[in-house]
This record gives sequence, C-alpha cells and structure tokens, in this order.
Amino acid sequence: MKRKVLTSKKIIVAVTGSVAAYKSIDLIRALKKENAAVKVIMTSSAANFVTPYSLKIASGDEVITDMFSDPFAHIEIPKWADALVVAPATANTISKFYCASADDIVGACFLAFEGPVIVAPAMNWRMYTNPIFVEKLDHLKDKGIIEVKPERGDLACGEEGIGRLAGVDIIVESIKKVLAVDPDLSKKKLVITAGPTREYIDPVRFISNRSSGKMGYAIAMNALSRGAEVTLISGPTWIDPPKGARTILVETAEEMMASVSENADKADALIMAAAVADYAPAKKSGQKEEKKDSMFLELRATEDILKAVASMKRRPLIVGFAAETGQNRERARGKLVGKNMDLIVFNDVTLSGSGFDVDTNKVTIMDGTTEEEHPLMSKHDVAAVILDRVASLLS
Ligand code: CTP
Repeated sequence: MKRKVLTSKKIIVAVTGSVAAYKSIDLIRALKKENAAVKVIMTSSAANFVTPYSLKIASGDEVITDMFSDPFAHIEIPKWADALVVAPATANTISKFYCASADDIVGACFLAFEGPVIVAPAMNWRMYTNPIFVEKLDHLKDKGIIEVKPERGDLACGEEGIGRLAGVDIIVESIKKVLAVDPDLSKKKLVITAGPTREYIDPVRFISNRSSGKMGYAIAMNALSRGAEVTLISGPTWIDPPKGARTILVETAEEMMASVSENADKADALIMAAAVADYAPAKKSGQKEEKKDSMFLELRATEDILKAVASMKRRPLIVGFAAETGQNRERARGKLVGKNMDLIVFNDVTLSGSGFDVDTNKVTIMDGTTEEEHPLMSKHDVAAVILDRVASLLS
C-alpha cells in the first residue's frame, strides 16, 4: 500500500474566532485519517464558536488556549511541528501575524515557528477585500506564508461574496503539497536575479522599468524550500530578502553583470528573472542636470549578461525570461537560441494577471524542442513549475 504523504507529519492546527471554527473539527479528523500527528491551539475568541473539549475529542490531545497554562508551550509546540495551519484564520489573527504580535498562543506559536505556515481565511467579503487587509495579507504572502483562498458563496451574515472558509479537502491538499516538497535541489547552487536595474542619467535621475522583482523572489523562496543554496542578485525592489538566501543588492546592469560573473562559474544554474535595462545613458553626469527646453540623451546598449555567461568555459544551466507584448512565442524562441539558454520562460505581459507587479503569471516554458504551457497561476506556483524543470535537468 502507498504510504500517505502526511504519515507522521506533525501539524499544529490553530483555530481562531470565526463562525467557521466548527469546521476545524472536520479538518483535524481529516488530517488524522491521513496519519498526521495533530496538536491544536486556539484563541479565546475561537472558544465562542467551538469548545476546546470538542477539539480535544477530535485531536485526541490537550488543546492549548491559554498562553500561561504551560510557560513554554509557545516554544515547544513550534519546535515539534512540521507545519502550522491556521484554519479558520480571522482578519484579526492575520493582522497580528503582520505585526508580530504575541499576545495569545496562536500569535506566539506563529512567531516561534520556523517552518511552513498555511492560513485559510474566513470572514465577511467586505473585510476580506478591504485594501488595508489585502495589503497585510499580501505582505505575509511575500514572506512565504501560504494562503488557501476562501470560497465565494453565502456568508454567515446573510450576504453573498468571497469569504467562506475553503473546503477541508482543499486545505488538506494544500498541506500535502507543502509537506511533500522534495529536497530535489539539495546542495545545488542557484544564482537567481530579480527586479529591474537603474541606469543613471545624473545622481538623481535614472531610466528603469516596471519589474517588481516578485517572480525572482518567488523562485528564490521555492529553491530554498527544496534545499538549494541560493544567491539572489537583486535590483531595487520593495521586497525583503528571503531568509536563508545570500542576497546581493545591485542597482545598474553593469553591477548586476559584475555580480553574476563573480558567482556564475560556481553555480549549477543561473535563473535570470531580472529585467535588465537594455540601454544605459552613454555618459552619466556627475552633477544634477539643469532643466532645459529639450534634452538629447544618447543611450548605449548594456552588455547582455546571459550571453556572457553562456560563453563561459564552465557554464551553469541557464534559464532566461521573455516578457513579450502579445503571443510572440517565436521571439521568445529566438532569444532561447540566440542567447544559448537551456530554458526560456515566456509570458505575454498584455494578458490580464500576467504583467508587472501582480501576484500571478501565465507562462510557457520552452526548451529547444518542447513548449509546456501553464494556466494562470500564482507566482509561487510558477516558481515551482520552473524549478521542477531545473531540478530534473540537474539530476
Ligand atoms: N538579459 C540579460 N542581459 C541584458 C538584457 C537581458 O541577461 N542586458 C536577460 C533577461 O534577464 C532575460 C533575457 O535576457 O532573462 C531576455 O531579456 P529580454 O529583455 O526579453 O530580451 P532582450 O534580448 O533584451 O530583447 P528585447 O528587449 O528586444 O525583447
């Protein structure tokens, strides 16, 4: 018989105060059916919706509601666990995670836990779509927290909209996906570039592009979770460096070129997700330029980093990106061949959800002979499919 993915996996189920809290009983049962070991923690507001006693019956273990019932529970339980699942996760608990607040057992365990965290929000649609809440949740997702999105439907308040806790089966599948991660890039050295570059006209003005860096950072995070040694070479972004990566911050295409050259010969793979500026001002003024009626700016092409690495004596596996306007696959294929890459990730930036500064992307991964088309996915899922290919090419 095939071994279940969750066999012997240790999971903390954190229950918070939503009307959907009673569904956590089914979640705990489902996880136990999969042979997982489950410990339950809950906030005091969750106890308004489901009793600790019912959760104890479901899990077969003491349920911790009070931070002070055991002085070290908030350290010992996170040390024990492989994953923390917050279901249902209220807006209040999610904002506490954002603030690193540890005033209850769920917040304290979250802060002390170093493994994967999965949150399954449940709340009224007005709360779920409130821009302040969306910003906090997006920030946590940028830090690697996984969201199991709520469903659309009838809500407890009588309204209809997005906010119903995701189905137990969907939450269990997400946990399996996270815990089944194969360390298939263990000890592999990956150099990943991300973000835009800035090409200075004078000390205060520069030419740049719309890249947010989200794709490259998602690849770095996914690679780390698969055991890779990651060097992230990043242009200017708002994203915090992923924990565990060696991050080198650069600004210009020239600096990125120097940093990639220094690191690429020791790497197993180079993934160029950065949007390197194609041109830089031919001359950079040392002083701030005065405003005139018009200005002539001479631009020179920057050196192509991928091409330079591809011609190295000991070259790593090379993955490039082609962000095109329109379904211009032939153009992407031309870059794959012209720059001597092993794989190219093509996307059409004019498609909705597939452009700049969004959390999703719709990509086609191409090699010399094949084209693997993927549906619109989160950038974290896109990162996973790209690294599946990299891992199989490196194995
Ligand atoms: N790239 C690079 N060095 C540059 C410019 C781009 O290494 N100076 C890399 C990008 O990181 C990307 C790939 O080359 O992985 C393709 O970049 P793209 O800008 O799409 O291609 P270009 O060859 O610059 O062509 P164009 O701008 O005309 O589309």
